[in-house]
Amino acid sequence: MGRLAGKAALITGAASGIGAACARRFAEEGAAVAGLDLREPSAGDWLEAAKRAPRSHFALADVRDDAAVGRAVADARAALGHLDVVVNAAGVAGGGPVHLLDPAEWDRVVDVNLKGAFLVSRHAIPALLEAGGGSVIHVASVEGLEGFEGGSAYNASKGGVVLLARNMAIDYGRKGVRVNAICPGFIETPLFGGVFEQPGMEAIRARIAAAHQLGRFGQPVEVANLALFLASDEASFVTGAAIPVDGGYTAGHRFGVAELMGLG
Ligand SMILES: NC(=O)c1ccc[n+]([C@@H]2O[C@H](COP(=O)([O-])OP(=O)(O)OC[C@H]3O[C@@H](n4cnc5c(N)ncnc54)[C@H](O)[C@@H]3O)[C@@H](O)[C@H]2O)c1
Repeated sequence: MGRLAGKAALITGAASGIGAACARRFAEEGAAVAGLDLREPSAGDWLEAAKRAPRSHFALADVRDDAAVGRAVADARAALGHLDVVVNAAGVAGGGPVHLLDPAEWDRVVDVNLKGAFLVSRHAIPALLEAGGGSVIHVASVEGLEGFEGGSAYNASKGGVVLLARNMAIDYGRKGVRVNAICPGFIETPLFGGVFEQPGMEAIRARIAAAHQLGRFGQPVEVANLALFLASDEASFVTGAAIPVDGGYTAGHRFGVAELMGLG
């Protein structure tokens, strides 16, 4: 028996990266999966998920579009029969020092990352209530827990997602719906690749990798494994949490003092 046997999950951003890895891990553990994304999946993870899941469904929709999200959630629910789990993984990077930031860029980032999580939740929560409970997992970021130079719109959006998770946990706890935020460190996905393609970022890449106490970037499946736990009944007493999956990025700082003290 898989850890998600009998459960049905809607996953946004399912065409790529962390969302696609969640779809694959969930399907491997017996869940039916519905994907929602702005574009068709090209990544192997969603295709593998669709192959393995007892039922699967994929819809093209923009998480910023209330009506389109409503239709996609209704279609997903109809295709899978019910909904128990929602993963909000659709997201975009972007930002800049505020006096240099175009308001349209602010809107793009905040609308996808924060308003999108709200709109998907708004349409999916009634299905979870009808199912008698469930689990909502918002993919926030370590940048929703602390600042990052030039982060502005992205960090504000992810900080908002963390608080959205906590507030939803309060509102729906008595109804059996658990709501948590996952806060990944830097994970090797196409979004991550885009950040390091920016001029000058290649040189900074090694310093950011070193800021993770495990000394490396993460993989999408390492985030999906935490989402899998939160989606499962194993997490039955976990709600309102913002959980880093960051290789120690938010643990604190490392300057070499421990080596001076004899750490080999
Ligand atoms: N990769 C990282 O280092 C990292 C770190 C922390 C948090 N995150 C978060 O994880 C989530 C997934 O990111 P990823 O790294 O897998 O990126 P990704 O680019 O591989 O996947 C994101 C997916 O979201 C989809 N998407 C974007 N805008 C959309 C919209 N308006 N409507 C519907 N779908 C849309 C994209 O098409 C894409 O398939 C994002 O919320 C991101 O902010 C990523």
